[in-house]
Amino acid sequence: MDIYQAFQTRQTIRDFEQSDGNPRSLDPSLVRKLIEAGFTAPTNDHMRDWHFVILNDLHQRRQLVSEVIKPISRKRSENIIDRWGLTDPLQREMYLEGIPRQFSMLNNCGCLILPFYRQDLPLLKPKNLSALNYFVSIWLCIENIFNAASAEGVYGVVRIPAPEESKIVKTRLNIPANYEFPCWMALGYPALDALRARQVTIDLDTRIHQNQW
Ligand SMILES: Cc1cc2nc3c(=O)[nH]c(=O)nc-3n(C[C@H](O)[C@H](O)[C@H](O)COP(=O)(O)O)c2cc1C
Repeated sequence: MDIYQAFQTRQTIRDFEQSDGNPRSLDPSLVRKLIEAGFTAPTNDHMRDWHFVILNDLHQRRQLVSEVIKPISRKRSENIIDRWGLTDPLQREMYLEGIPRQFSMLNNCGCLILPFYRQDLPLLKPKNLSALNYFVSIWLCIENIFNAASAEGVYGVVRIPAPEESKIVKTRLNIPANYEFPCWMALGYPALDALRARQVTIDLDTRIHQNQW
């Protein structure tokens, strides 16, 4: 698959193929290949001080996920979306399907990857844009992994951890204090009936500006 096809086919998947009641797992050599693709991303300080914890021991995974995330019903999701004041129908639909799947997508994906990156300065009090460079770099790496995955027929989703969630995850997994946890990465083979969010149509002619906006 060429790189443009991989970009075009990438999409968020939160429903993963199961076999015999367990997620269909990814071959470890494929996981390694995807992470290797991640490591080709550009990086602010040349060091790529990135680490990945693969959490595929289902017992350990489910214990950790249950400790930090509570399942949310569709009804409660609707209340949350209303509280956020969202009105766009496609955006509401995405959240309405997405919020109730936060718990199941992490438990049921074929491979759960937790990236960590070195962040010596306080991430949440940046003094300038450069202070965010480490955060930006790990996200470039994460995006490479998802695009490489789509070239392999593997899809998934990220989840941004809440502050307390992040703290517990770091403690349980023995993560050094100066490493940050940007997101959970749930990857796997899509379930046959996996939901795919309807997309907002973007007219590029209204987004590309010549010489000035
Ligand atoms: C920075 C970022 C944060 C996101 N956070 C979450 C999240 O916490 N939970 C989730 O289910 N999806 C999350 N997503 C996935 C988005 O909902 C999804 O990418 C978006 O709706 C577009 O759909 P698509 O990926 O299928 O094109 C996130 C995506 C990005 C880029």
